[in-house]
Amino acid sequence: MSKPHHLPGHPHIARRDGELHVEGRPLSALAQEFGTPLFVYSRQWMLDALAAYQRGFEGRDAMICYAIKANSSLGVLRVFAEAGCGFDIVSGGELSRVLAAGADPSRVIFSGVGKTRAEMRQALEAGIACFNVESEAELDVLDEVAREQPGRRAGVSIRINPNVDPKTHPYISTGLKGNKFGVAHDRAVAIYRHAASLAGLQVLGIDCHIGSQITESAPYLEALERVLDLVEAIEAAGVPLHHLDFGGGLGIDYNGDTPPAADALWKQLLARLDARGFGGRRLIVEPGRSLVGNAGVCVTEVLYLKPGEEKNFCIVDAAMNDLPRPAMYQAFHQIVPVVERAAAAAVSYDVVGPICESGDWIGRDRTLQVATGDRLAVLSAGAYCMAMASNYNTRGRAAEVLVSGSHATLIRRRETLDDQLLAERF
Ligand code: LLP
Repeated sequence: MSKPHHLPGHPHIARRDGELHVEGRPLSALAQEFGTPLFVYSRQWMLDALAAYQRGFEGRDAMICYAIKANSSLGVLRVFAEAGCGFDIVSGGELSRVLAAGADPSRVIFSGVGKTRAEMRQALEAGIACFNVESEAELDVLDEVAREQPGRRAGVSIRINPNVDPKTHPYISTGLKGNKFGVAHDRAVAIYRHAASLAGLQVLGIDCHIGSQITESAPYLEALERVLDLVEAIEAAGVPLHHLDFGGGLGIDYNGDTPPAADALWKQLLARLDARGFGGRRLIVEPGRSLVGNAGVCVTEVLYLKPGEEKNFCIVDAAMNDLPRPAMYQAFHQIVPVVERAAAAAVSYDVVGPICESGDWIGRDRTLQVATGDRLAVLSAGAYCMAMASNYNTRGRAAEVLVSGSHATLIRRRETLDDQLLAERF
């Protein structure tokens, strides 16, 4: 066997003898066995990504809460639960998922702008650590719900909108004044005073989350200073804060992006926290993408090659219902052949799915050497792909496989038409 060539930025994906492998498993064989489109994840990549955060917080009182919206498949959650990770959830459904995966509820925090009373009750009964509250109205409702359960108080942290530009796509920037998230900086002290007066609540901390796919440290440093200014003001008003939660948002390398490593970023942030006297507080982070994004690829088969008047199309069996990021955010995912085919002509294609919309594209102007029946791997597909998949065009959702060394486990079977029709009636 020839020496493996690791794809740049993808240490657990390598080409051996011309064929793409995730850890020890060749993708062709997995596609043969489980069909396409197929998501394949490297367990080791996830553990290494988690380890970077764990290193960053070594010796600190820190809780890493994986934001499961990035990829909420049970098999993925299980990897993080077994590694002792906490979880950040945004719905009652996500709570049920983390509990099913074996999470310790005392390491679960609940974010989101629109929690229902039923979700609040479910989370209180489960005994989660903290609610990240996003408005004054939500505080009052949570207080009422908590007081229905005698002897229980809901731990709360209030999400502050630090008005920092994370310099990312507008749909995934969340910490600017015009966003629906968090409470305004200048209302924070009054809201904390109010929260502290409510009998059903116990104020635990403060949180912020400024956006996603952030590739620089500067926006984090800026948000940190603003949050610490507020912590000083809130504590001066007589409300002590036990923990500081800086959200998620750290980006990954999709196409030569150079985000800081989690441990390097936290070295910088901890230096500022120490300098301002907050380094000994309990720290919480909510990373999603940076724990799973580059663990995953989506394997898809070329159905047709269609030369066009202006463009050539490579029509594959994955579509925007499987990989919604290009259609939604004009996101770039690298697309590489599973088996290299040196003999075919190199042609520039738009790689598109079978869905009846011009927005159904996966990559534009990609030079590929392919033939019908070849398989392609769409890279960086571990985060916000399967989790955002839909049944549009009555397409069943893809299957998912978790690879660990030379071992592959089907963690989600392909969705059948019966699965889709189960909830429907005439
Ligand atoms: N915490 C909160 C409160 C969040 O809203 C999010 C993501 C995270 C943590 C995790 O952020 P991450 O570490 O994954 O950046 N679908 C979009 C991304 C949406 C992010 C939503 N919130 C995409 O595919 O780019």
